[in-house]
Amino acid sequence: MEQNKIEEKKEKLFGNEKNSDYGKQEYWEERFEEEEEYEWLCKYKDISPYLEPYLKKEDKILIVGCGNSLFSTELYDAGFENVINIDFSEICIEKMKKNNEKRTKMKW
Ligand SMILES: C[S@@+](CC[C@H](N)C(=O)[O-])C[C@H]1O[C@@H](n2cnc3c(N)ncnc32)[C@H](O)[C@@H]1O
Repeated sequence: MEQNKIEEKKEKLFGNEKNSDYGKQEYWEERFEEEEEYEWLCKYKDISPYLEPYLKKEDKILIVGCGNSLFSTELYDAGFENVINIDFSEICIEKMKKNNEKRTKMKW
């Protein structure tokens, strides 16, 4: 989905959200019921030139609060397959697991 379409959908769905909502598990569960993909910080390709010199292919990489971002997927596809994702939203983890079924070494 294009970023502006995602923004439009987010505005419609979560227009009245507050910063304090971000600490609530039920906020994220509700959000991930609807939302398929959202990138909060940056895309993997934007920081890979700065990150990759410090990584070895066999490094264990923990993604804390992975959400529905493509970051860990793109990290894996760049050859860093020892990726462990955690998130307190069960809905998110179930969806991400399914979307990444073919990435058999990725852990959730
Ligand atoms: C702002 S989003 C960032 C998602 C993703 N990392 C990104 O950069 O696009 C925060 C994520 O952290 C998760 N999260 C928030 N508090 C958490 C907690 N206490 N334990 C585990 N996950 C948490 C939320 O479910 C959500 O997926």
